[in-house]
Amino acid sequence: MTTLTQLQGLTTDDLLKEKIRNRSANIGVIGLGYVGLPLSLLFSEEKFRVTGFDIDPKKVETLSQGGSYIVRIPETEIQAAAAHGFQATTDFSRISSMDAVIICVPTPLNDHHEPDLSFISTTAENISSYLSPGQLIVLESTTYPGTTEELLVPVLERNPSGLRAARNGAASAGEFYVAFSPEREDPGNDTVARRDIPKVVGGLNAAATGLATELYASIFNRTVAVSSPAAAEMTKLLENIYRCVNIALVNELKLLCLRMGINIWEVIEAASTKPFGFHAFYPGPGLGGHCIPIDPFYLSWKAREHDFHTRFIELAGEINQNMPYHVVASTAAALNREKKSLNGASILVLGIAYKKDIDDLRESPSLTIIELLQKEGAKVCYNDPYFTFVGRGRKYDLQMRNTPMENLCQYDCVIIVTDHSDYDYQKIVSESRLVIDTRNATRGIHAPNIVLC
Ligand SMILES: NC(=O)c1ccc[n+]([C@@H]2O[C@H](COP(=O)([O-])OP(=O)(O)OC[C@H]3O[C@@H](n4cnc5c(N)ncnc54)[C@H](O)[C@@H]3O)[C@@H](O)[C@H]2O)c1
Repeated sequence: MTTLTQLQGLTTDDLLKEKIRNRSANIGVIGLGYVGLPLSLLFSEEKFRVTGFDIDPKKVETLSQGGSYIVRIPETEIQAAAAHGFQATTDFSRISSMDAVIICVPTPLNDHHEPDLSFISTTAENISSYLSPGQLIVLESTTYPGTTEELLVPVLERNPSGLRAARNGAASAGEFYVAFSPEREDPGNDTVARRDIPKVVGGLNAAATGLATELYASIFNRTVAVSSPAAAEMTKLLENIYRCVNIALVNELKLLCLRMGINIWEVIEAASTKPFGFHAFYPGPGLGGHCIPIDPFYLSWKAREHDFHTRFIELAGEINQNMPYHVVASTAAALNREKKSLNGASILVLGIAYKKDIDDLRESPSLTIIELLQKEGAKVCYNDPYFTFVGRGRKYDLQMRNTPMENLCQYDCVIIVTDHSDYDYQKIVSESRLVIDTRNATRGIHAPNIVLC
């Protein structure tokens, strides 16, 4: 079938590129969480008309009323985007009027530590009926190499109109484009502007890569094209595995240094003065967040299909997963030196978020530490300026309310798990009986009641 665009000598990717350049392309973002919402706002700032899709009606309602549910995104930004046409909806039939659709749904692990791709497959099922010829579909969710081609595309291709993903050249009248482009968001990092984070793109074919590159070049200063979706998927995993393994290395060396009476943070600071060949990673109470504790296991799971055992990932996972247990053991030992037991001790945990200055507690080591302390019979409270209440999560059910930072000497021990900038560490040390510091937050303060762990 010869289409009008072909008659005019324009291919479907030329047409969409032009719409991207003149900002008439409609952008749809699916999954309005920590990744999808800021991404929607970036496109909106660049004068695109953006529609956000989510299955959570509460999020959609909050956004529709000009509100925000992410601390670092002020309501004014949502309202500014709304003025440029940003809308949030649960109505997936509106996908049909989008020129480009970007999928940012969760990719967690299930109870058996295996990839849970149900959010991606559900999304693909939800949108397959509303695909349009020439449309660009981009997956951003972190996942193992092969997901885009082996899972996303087959589900999308089970659509009632018989549309297929373009594999040879520009999409014909019966085809759509597919690409993978990993998200590199680093919550709480204000040193690199979002625009300055290069965007890796791998399309199902060269035309899809070209289109996705054009799309992201409108909001990022640099795009990096790779040869396939699988290469882009693997790039993201390499980045996160690199972090996971290096954090495990310093965590292990910290345990050794503690035994040898050496301060690991002093050592890392000194090593960091080397102008080449060393990048500093820091030990902590355990991994947290939606990425580093999870993503490496996506690859080890996939590797098994190829009779391959990813030993670095497994070893790093073992060391990192042990860190909350180390914090609890160090706390018990410190109390013991005071002739007290963990059983019955009154403990304040500082910081519930998985890292400083953010409002995200997914996979936070604080949650594991609190559960372990409670199991040992400790009476545990927490303080976190970002969370007034901690209820039920995927793996825990704490039902705890934020405790004010008052009367710290009432606690047998205060554990610094997340080193939020809001805390006055000098005051914490001077008012507490015992301080367990898992982050070196008390650096520069010299007092006998501090235990680095
Ligand atoms: N948060 C980060 O810092 C970060 C960084 C890099 C990569 N990633 C990756 O990005 C992806 C998204 O992460 P996130 O942190 O934004 O997750 P999130 O949980 O904050 O947001 C996901 C959103 O998707 C929605 N959703 C779930 N199923 C849906 C469906 N079927 N249709 C529409 N919406 C649906 C949820 O309601 C939620 O609003 C994950 O794969 C994650 O690994 C996250």
